[in-house]
Amino acid sequence: MQKRYDNLLLIYYSGTGNSKQVSEWIVKEAQNRGMKTHIASFHQFNPENTADFKGNTLIGFFSATHGFNMPHSMLAFLVRFSILKGSDVFIGNTRAGIKLSKLFLPGLSGIAMYFPALIMLFKGYKIRAMYPVDLPSNWISIHPGLRKKVIISMMVHYEKLTTKFAAQLFSGKRVFLKSFLLLPLDLLVMPLAFGYYFVGRFIIAKTFIANTNCNNCGLCMEQCPTRSIILQDNRPYWKFTCESCMKCMNYCPERAIETAHSMVFLLLFILITLVNPYLSAKMTEIVAVWFNHSQIAFESLYFVVRWSATIAFFFTGYKLLHYLMRFPGINKIITYTTLTTWKFWRRYRIPRAGNLVSAHPKGV
Ligand SMILES: Cc1cc2nc3c(=O)[nH]c(=O)nc-3n(C[C@H](O)[C@H](O)[C@H](O)COP(=O)(O)O)c2cc1C
Ligand code: SF4
Ligand code: SF4
Repeated sequence: MQKRYDNLLLIYYSGTGNSKQVSEWIVKEAQNRGMKTHIASFHQFNPENTADFKGNTLIGFFSATHGFNMPHSMLAFLVRFSILKGSDVFIGNTRAGIKLSKLFLPGLSGIAMYFPALIMLFKGYKIRAMYPVDLPSNWISIHPGLRKKVIISMMVHYEKLTTKFAAQLFSGKRVFLKSFLLLPLDLLVMPLAFGYYFVGRFIIAKTFIANTNCNNCGLCMEQCPTRSIILQDNRPYWKFTCESCMKCMNYCPERAIETAHSMVFLLLFILITLVNPYLSAKMTEIVAVWFNHSQIAFESLYFVVRWSATIAFFFTGYKLLHYLMRFPGINKIITYTTLTTWKFWRRYRIPRAGNLVSAHPKGV
């Protein structure tokens, strides 16, 4: 039988390992079929590693979902990607699934696959599949990690489905059904995807702090895929480029990284009760003089000014907080007023097992 593909190039964006794990399942299936494979994280990919690829190549991009979209640095990578032009491509994402009793429920992709697929299509690649995989959410800033038993059972379930998907793809089938099942909801959340991309991600980047457990081991700085943590005043400081992939927070060996919930609530309170009403009054005055009380002019101007001010406000608030955290008393107050510090607020780790299906106690 003639092989549809000779090679598989798989590039992933993964903070806490879900998308990397799914990519590895797909690569394993490709290797079982005798395909030559190369797998790499987007930030470590070297095109020279595919120089010995001969024949038909299938290229896959698998990524975490952030704010109903593909994370910015992976999108930027796709825009720059230019090797093996004209090849077949598939786009995949992992998203926050949940398990209720025996039911596996999906997360929501928004434009996390449609948009990258469009980018690659415009660049001259052929889209063969789009496929979402619903693994446990790693967004520990907003909820505690799932229990290990639930995580393993989700992994086992989705390893089987992913392998089946890979088999269909490699045998030449186009696979799109699952990616379009939630299309109406995906379209509904599209404005949120833009909101997250242009504002939300910058605010969330400014919510991470290191508590007094931090011993400056440097691991978070070394391993951040976007190099977004620097040492400032001898303590980790998060830059705007942080994409909240959650790697640092979930893998800090001292459990020293927290989300500063109390600071977030305080800043939001000041914004809503003082800053926004002040800006609204100022914009009303300006629009009255320059735009003859035009409602559209007011809405547009206020929208831009309010969200720019929000980002600037969080930046300033975070700088101040980082300075104040040098005082042990303040550090303790901030630490104990974040939910992430408490034991019940689990971190998210995927189980370390090569083949989760065979590793499962029931062998399912
Ligand atoms: C900042 C952030 C935003 C997220 N947004 C979404 C989302 O819009 N939809 C969704 O289903 N899951 C969302 N998630 C969950 C992750 O996409 C999901 O847990 C993914 O499997 C993580 O993959 P990784 O371990 O490869 O980084 C989000 C997680 C984070 C940290
Ligand atoms: S990994 Fe944890 S302990 Fe090490 S520098 Fe980062 S925050 Fe500090
Ligand atoms: S700073 Fe942490 S959360 Fe942000 S991108 Fe780097 S590893 Fe991910």
